[in-house]
Amino acid sequence: MATNRKVLIAPSMLAADLSRLADEVQALEKAKADVLHFDIMDGHFVPNITFGIPVLESVRKKTALPFDAHLMITDADKYIDAFASIGCNWISVHVEACPHIHRTLSRIRELGMKAGIAINPGTSLSQVDSVLNEVDYVLVMSVNPGFGGQQFIPQTVKKLEELKQKIGKAKTTIEVDGGIKKHNIAEVASAGAEVIVVGTGLFEDKDYTAAIQQLRDACGAGK
Ligand code: DX5
Ligand code: ZN
Repeated sequence: MATNRKVLIAPSMLAADLSRLADEVQALEKAKADVLHFDIMDGHFVPNITFGIPVLESVRKKTALPFDAHLMITDADKYIDAFASIGCNWISVHVEACPHIHRTLSRIRELGMKAGIAINPGTSLSQVDSVLNEVDYVLVMSVNPGFGGQQFIPQTVKKLEELKQKIGKAKTTIEVDGGIKKHNIAEVASAGAEVIVVGTGLFEDKDYTAAIQQLRDACGAGK
């Protein structure tokens, strides 16, 4: 199941030691992470509250790595400009949470960021068809959003393959998020995921450099 395509490893900062967030982002940059994934939760769309704009703003100065904000919030439109102003590079919003999704995605791009559409495990891919041309990436959730450390949902593999088919030759990237570890990363990479979010599967290792390298090697994308 190995693939030779390049994958980007995106540590989910929710699993980091949040009391030492600046040290953590710097350690990840040194360990050659590609992009930092921040899970923004509001206690409405998902049953959990994490961190928000001031936290990202304060760590933005500590690393040159791109910031990928995964918005699990009901009122994304209200906050997109603020995420842009503090130097966020990618933003994904949930198709299930945005009533005016086309407008929301257009605004993200207008502000010079990469726009992503996130989709829950229980939502059909047909829900994102009409905006596939408006996004830079599709974030396929492989757990129900809200918490780190959950079990990977195996049906995600088929969904990734179907999405890859739909995308065809277009430049849209596929990101996958939830329950990814060394033992299943090859499967999602082969199915088409190019940006792979890893939370507990990375931070449980003390040596981030080795862990990131092992994740890359596991999907045949060593560098
Ligand atoms: C879930 C989040 C994920 C999650 C990933 O709502 O979107 O990013 O924290 O963590 P692991 O890899 O531990 O499932
Ligand atoms: Zn996430």
